[in-house]
Amino acid sequence: MKKRDFLTLGDVSTEEWPQLFARAAELKQHRSQKTLAGKTVALVFEKASTRTRVSFEVGVYELGGHAVVLNSQGSQIARGEPIADTARVLSGYCSMIAIRTFGQERVAELAKWASVPVINALSDQHHPCQVATDLFTVIEKFGTLDGLRYAWIGDGNNMANSWIEAAGLFGLELALACPDGFAPDPLLMSAARENQKRRGKGSLTLTHDPKVAASGSHVISTDVWASMGQEDEAELRKRAFAGYCVDAGLVQRAAPDAIVLHCLPAHRGEEITGDVLDGAQSLAWVQAENRLHIGKAILEAVRSGAA
Ligand code: CP
Ligand code: NVA
Repeated sequence: MKKRDFLTLGDVSTEEWPQLFARAAELKQHRSQKTLAGKTVALVFEKASTRTRVSFEVGVYELGGHAVVLNSQGSQIARGEPIADTARVLSGYCSMIAIRTFGQERVAELAKWASVPVINALSDQHHPCQVATDLFTVIEKFGTLDGLRYAWIGDGNNMANSWIEAAGLFGLELALACPDGFAPDPLLMSAARENQKRRGKGSLTLTHDPKVAASGSHVISTDVWASMGQEDEAELRKRAFAGYCVDAGLVQRAAPDAIVLHCLPAHRGEEITGDVLDGAQSLAWVQAENRLHIGKAILEAVRSGAA
């Protein structure tokens, strides 16, 4: 059987996604099911993490397996050992590898050389585990992904890219508001539009006006203005993103039952105000917990080779 990787959302087919969401819901109800008994999962981090690191480590434990966390600092990765070599070595010890890194090409290189399944735990281009979680959180709230309007406010970053891919896969109506010069990957935009056309549903629009994107939306998502690796641009980005804060005024333009999502960590007073993040419409804390349940469903899906 060909090994199963999860490098972007598209690695799970639209037919398989409902099963994966259902399995996550089941695992949320019954947390301890030993489907990974005796298995070891390597969690490789070339960037910082709180949620991904802890939810995967706890998730592997709850599934009866063992997680080995390998931070690049302190391992041979930071000293330049090629990712292809790391892939082959870890494949000899572990049943699966999750990696958080910089360029998507590093994730792809790891997957190419690993003989075991590889999960993308965030790259500069994609954050599929997080957006899978966000979709699951939407389903928990609204019972469906259909008939809703989605707004992305802020940077055209890894999160935005994964939302765009989701818009193509699920035929979502997604409106993005990004400042000039910070638009998401145009190739992903056109691929998603093609996907929507094939499916006969969904839309994808890009504006510079957060009010336009937020108006009438049911799901408002945002993320930090400077992602990991962009720390040097933080000040420049603060200026460029002025006016892109998800505040109470913006949320008021959305549907009355709209929810606000943030993958966290958040910078209160920058991309989102404290009253919105901590307010009644925010599902950020549920969303954070859901990383665990979706993470476990993803581990099971790639492990078994069938989502
Ligand atoms: N949302 C998310 O991926 O959080 P961490 O960076 O803490 O893993
Ligand atoms: N866009 C953010 C997401 C963090 C979970 C980053 O890449 O730093």
